[in-house]
Amino acid sequence: MKGITRFGVSLEEALLQRFDDHIHRRNYTNRSEAIRDLIREELVREEWRQNSEVTGAITLVYDHHQRGLVARLLDIQHHYHHIIFSSQHIHLDHDNCLEIIVAKGNAATVEELYGKLKAAKGVNHTSLAMATTGKITD
Ligand code: NI
Repeated sequence: MKGITRFGVSLEEALLQRFDDHIHRRNYTNRSEAIRDLIREELVREEWRQNSEVTGAITLVYDHHQRGLVARLLDIQHHYHHIIFSSQHIHLDHDNCLEIIVAKGNAATVEELYGKLKAAKGVNHTSLAMATTGKITD
């Protein structure tokens, strides 16, 4: 960590009590650590809102027997090959596949990719973990 600055925060007692309960449940050892994490999380959300360069992990669960689905998912991914860094395919059981796609690019493009994969008929679950390139949060 670079130079550290201390600053005071004023807030209502009840709100502070709720925050302390929250950080206790999350196993933080002190308020500063919890506040640092909140600030970083907000800065990452802001990167996505501002359409900055971001990273994200898209998770899909689907039944590969669904007609045309595997080809459709591959078509979409090839269309976005410039932002896809890696993809991992796990055969969960006889029918179900889990795929994790790691993307890096402008937030809007990553969300567009996510939206297309999510909309593919037969995909049973999708999630997008919105992450950062790490430049603003170190
Ligand atoms: Ni599979």
